[in-house]
Amino acid sequence: MRKIFFAALTLMSSVCYMSAAETLNSPNGKLAVTFDLTVDGTPTYALTFDGKDVVKPSRLGLELKSGDSMLKGFKLVNTTRDSFDETWTPVWGETKTIRNHYNEMAVRLSQMANGKQRDMIVRFRLYDDGLGFRYEWPKQENLTYFVIKEERTEFAMPADNTAYWIPGDYDTQEYDYTVCKLSEIREQLPAALNPGNASTSVFSPTGVQTALQMKTPEGLYVNIHEAACVNYSTMHLELDDKNLVFKSWLTPDTRGDKGHMMAPCMSPWRTVQVLDNACDVLASKLILNLNEPCKIEDTSWIHPTKYMGVWWEMITGKGTWSYTDLSAVNLDSVDYKTLKPSGKHSANNENVKRYIDFAAEHGFDQLLVEGWNIGWEDWIGNEKDYVFDFQTPYPDFDIKMLNEYAHSKGIKLMMHHETSGSLRNYERHMEAAYDLMNQYGYDAVKSGYVGNILPRGERHYGQWANNHYLYALKKAAEHKIMVNAHEATRPTGLCRTYPNLVGNESARGTEYQAFGGTKPHHVTILPFTRLQGGPMDFTPGIFCMDISSFNPDNKSKVNSTLCNQLALYVTMYSPLQMAADMPEHYERYMDAFQFIKDVAVDWDDSKYLAAEPGEYIVAARKEKGAENWFVGGVTNEDAREMPVSFSFLNKGQKYVATVYADAPNADYQTNPEKYVITKGIVTSKDAVKIKMARGGGFAISLIPATDADKDLKKLKLKK
Ligand code: NOJ
Ligand code: CA
Repeated sequence: MRKIFFAALTLMSSVCYMSAAETLNSPNGKLAVTFDLTVDGTPTYALTFDGKDVVKPSRLGLELKSGDSMLKGFKLVNTTRDSFDETWTPVWGETKTIRNHYNEMAVRLSQMANGKQRDMIVRFRLYDDGLGFRYEWPKQENLTYFVIKEERTEFAMPADNTAYWIPGDYDTQEYDYTVCKLSEIREQLPAALNPGNASTSVFSPTGVQTALQMKTPEGLYVNIHEAACVNYSTMHLELDDKNLVFKSWLTPDTRGDKGHMMAPCMSPWRTVQVLDNACDVLASKLILNLNEPCKIEDTSWIHPTKYMGVWWEMITGKGTWSYTDLSAVNLDSVDYKTLKPSGKHSANNENVKRYIDFAAEHGFDQLLVEGWNIGWEDWIGNEKDYVFDFQTPYPDFDIKMLNEYAHSKGIKLMMHHETSGSLRNYERHMEAAYDLMNQYGYDAVKSGYVGNILPRGERHYGQWANNHYLYALKKAAEHKIMVNAHEATRPTGLCRTYPNLVGNESARGTEYQAFGGTKPHHVTILPFTRLQGGPMDFTPGIFCMDISSFNPDNKSKVNSTLCNQLALYVTMYSPLQMAADMPEHYERYMDAFQFIKDVAVDWDDSKYLAAEPGEYIVAARKEKGAENWFVGGVTNEDAREMPVSFSFLNKGQKYVATVYADAPNADYQTNPEKYVITKGIVTSKDAVKIKMARGGGFAISLIPATDADKDLKKLKLKK
């Protein structure tokens, strides 16, 4: 091991080691992390799987804005070791319980800086599915405040891995993915900045975001991300593509600083997940396990939610969020008393009631209504910091009447807070806005952070904004409110600690199907990347793929078959699931809509049956507290036949299987809405082969058979 260290670090500079290396093994012994100090006192680590390099010896440390940096001159004070094994029960989740099993090594280092000693701990936790490590600065005499210029954590890759990546960007994650070798990222990056989404916050020609999924030439799945990002800015990765070394690159604040620290404090966990099977990557709970246990004592008010929304009609441009015709108002001084209705305002009493009726009739829990409150006229085209008050409804939205109407039908309205990126404005109104929700009986809010962050110069993923999102979440918990934040920072598993964070967007969601489209392989990658940090409000369930058929001005096509849309309720795990299309589109295909009505949103168990990033995913999940199972399968732009074995079912039990499959002539580009539904009996001994169209998928519900099903034949799918 020492030899490998020496050889690898010699490449970076002429160094050798001064102290004995400290090695930690994972519980099953397959992973090993080794810490060492070079002769100049630079901390390093390396990670192996079955004795093979996964991360070659890589430097650790931080550059400070002033004074001596925390990069070299360290001495080893001591090393303490521990191990931990517990099983915890999430408030909601993919499985009933989660095992948190790791070995730990804390390396205490000291350094003379400006003539005084200061200490830093690097804590490693090694699991069977990967590594977490973080920097800790204990309470100490000579170190209190410090400003980070850059974190200098490195991840040296031993080979030119395949990467599934989106460009590094301080303000958006709403990109399509690119799949290429590490050495090709520089060349591919300009094309990866998809038109219509070009952001000014792309920081480097080889910068990428985490969670970054990779596959090594030997077929190992390696994923770099972070866990428990609290009071710290979000980490991106910059690739030194000559040496294939990733370097941490934190999101800056308005002055370009990367973090304001006050000891005692710590960094988030830097994570390297390593697995030799793609299904195990999807089942990994590494990021959740590295987060603190739940801090909310009474969680009885937190619940999985299936919802519809007055939403897609605005996203597609058929309706508007604003009450008035924007071209007819003086945007510089909007007078809300004299606004004239444009006739296109979707959040009007009559339309909202129509959605409430439909959502209630079909068993949904909630209805999201966007565009209910004044401010949209003031916002468009302006960067004012006072646009929304989150409390004043438009004249055609009767907040009292509509909530009472919804409650009388057994459903709730879901609140919407578009902050227009003005975090201070939101914080100023937050208490009153949450009070209003309590007053009318809303228990969930979808918030949003579109546009540049105000105050100007702050970034969506900076330390300051990250602190805001957590503040909003904690305040919401005080009001017993669940949060689903769009355009907020990318999740790092904080939903374990604050399970009222039931969803985030933080990636390219279904809305982009109405903004020009998304590549079909997207949904085969997100569970490997974005979903590692927590659930996504992906908003599936689009049934009408030709948007111009209801809004001639929008030529976008949804790049997905209808069965692919159904499958997403299973493959994209979330305790918050939306049926995103409009009632009139569901009414055309009520037999397929049945799957969305039936599918559960909380689970006792989940099994990944087949997966390969960028290609396909098949997942099976067992409904919480019931014997029903649901299966979903999605493919990329290639059609394929997928074998599905039902061996996960209870032995000896008969189930009624309803299979929703792409019709033989279905295709995401030419014939996306064609499907075939087949019903029949299956047991754990059965298996089927299901064809998925290009951009297609399938969904299956499996319900224990009763006497009423005795005439049903064994499941047989047509060839
Ligand atoms: C962007 C969000 O992703 C979308 O869901 C929302 O409707 C709009 N912002 C308006 O807030
Ligand atoms: Ca968005």
